[in-house]
Amino acid sequence: MNILVIGQNGREHALAVAYAKSKKVSKVIMTPGNGLTDFQNIKIKNYPKAGMTDFKGIVKVCKKEKIDLVDVAQDDVIAAGYVDRLEELGIAAFGPTKLASQLEWDKEWARNFMLKYNLPIPRFQVFNNQKKAISYINSLPEQVLFVKASGLALGKGVIRAENKKEAIEAVKAMKNFGGSGETFLIEEALVGEEFSLFAICDGENFQVTKAAQDHKRIYDGDKGPNTGGVGSIAPTGAVSSAIIREIESKIIKPTLLGMKNEGRVYKGILYLGGIITSNGVKVIEFNCRWGDPEAEVIVPSIQTDYLSLVDSVRVGRLSKSKIQFDEKIRLSVAGCSKGYPQNYSSVIDKEIFGLTDAMKLPDITIFGAGIKRSGKRFFANGGRVFHVVGEGKNVIETMENAYKAISMITIEGNNLYYRTDIGWRDLGRLKK
Ligand code: AMP
Ligand code: GLY
Repeated sequence: MNILVIGQNGREHALAVAYAKSKKVSKVIMTPGNGLTDFQNIKIKNYPKAGMTDFKGIVKVCKKEKIDLVDVAQDDVIAAGYVDRLEELGIAAFGPTKLASQLEWDKEWARNFMLKYNLPIPRFQVFNNQKKAISYINSLPEQVLFVKASGLALGKGVIRAENKKEAIEAVKAMKNFGGSGETFLIEEALVGEEFSLFAICDGENFQVTKAAQDHKRIYDGDKGPNTGGVGSIAPTGAVSSAIIREIESKIIKPTLLGMKNEGRVYKGILYLGGIITSNGVKVIEFNCRWGDPEAEVIVPSIQTDYLSLVDSVRVGRLSKSKIQFDEKIRLSVAGCSKGYPQNYSSVIDKEIFGLTDAMKLPDITIFGAGIKRSGKRFFANGGRVFHVVGEGKNVIETMENAYKAISMITIEGNNLYYRTDIGWRDLGRLKK
């Protein structure tokens, strides 16, 4: 079988490697891929000129390379309905349909769905009028609030407001998100530890993976601006097996039933962004795909043949096959261009050193993201340049492995930045 994975980041790289491991897979094409995806893995080949939003270009590649299955793993591409559009052309695709993925691309629709199906969620109100939103805020007691653009806003449409004054400013800022911010939500703030849990769903049946924890802030101690995620760990001790059972029965199961009931059968990866409050687990959001950088620490742990897994989802037979995971802990540290997530333009095209030596260490995998290659030399090409994933049998060993590897890497002019405390919560739990 020939597989095409649309994307260029660490998540898509991890998926390409998972497909390539399958004996049934002859080749994996990436559109566009990155400088590391086609390095060392002889089954993976890049089409750097076929951008993610170039639907026609992707279809051409499918024909030329005789692609049997396209994995649509990236949010904007899912929201653009690529799964439906490919299937209409007779090209098999893995991922939720445009209608099913409204759970991610329309926060208003998603919260109303959660309310209708009685999922545990924070109190929220939807507005499309500044004045009404401001008088609502003024009617509330002083508290932390979240103001969210309803549409996709490159991960930037969510503003945490420490008080009512900031919430009013946030409401005024919603117009900066264009169409995405025309409708917005005001939500009460939940307090507790956050996690990401992924359910592999065939429309009716599902199986959950290990729970992960993302590290979204740029600086150690979870300080500074939000990023796309600069480190992750799985499994995280934050999510016990009792909590997983609670999530399965109170969140995932009613969601799949509800989606079916709404005529939006959900097939694909369902990503729960949750928070463990003193009052049980609550849903912050659903995404309709693997997380990035969570995929980098979960997908490599899947022992079941990934293509067979995807096939069983597509034909609705997931219940027949129990997905196997290994027992290891994995931790990813994102190697970033200094200045990310604000301004890192001066780092683009700077050379990266030490990457291939770090790759040779045992228990280390490196996934590429904003990286390009010329011959055997690597250059920075984005904010998150690569993800170093360490594995081990416990948190300490895993952290040591990951940090030993990343300490061998540099970017010309001392331009590599990474957090030094990924996994700190799980480390703290060990010490208790
Ligand atoms: P989102 O883009 O919806 O994932 O939100 C970004 C981040 O904001 C989440 O990862 C949470 O840390 C935080 N967040 C969003 N909504 C809430 C909420 N109602 N209570 C607490 N934290 C939230
Ligand atoms: N880890 C955050 C995301 O994938 O959206």
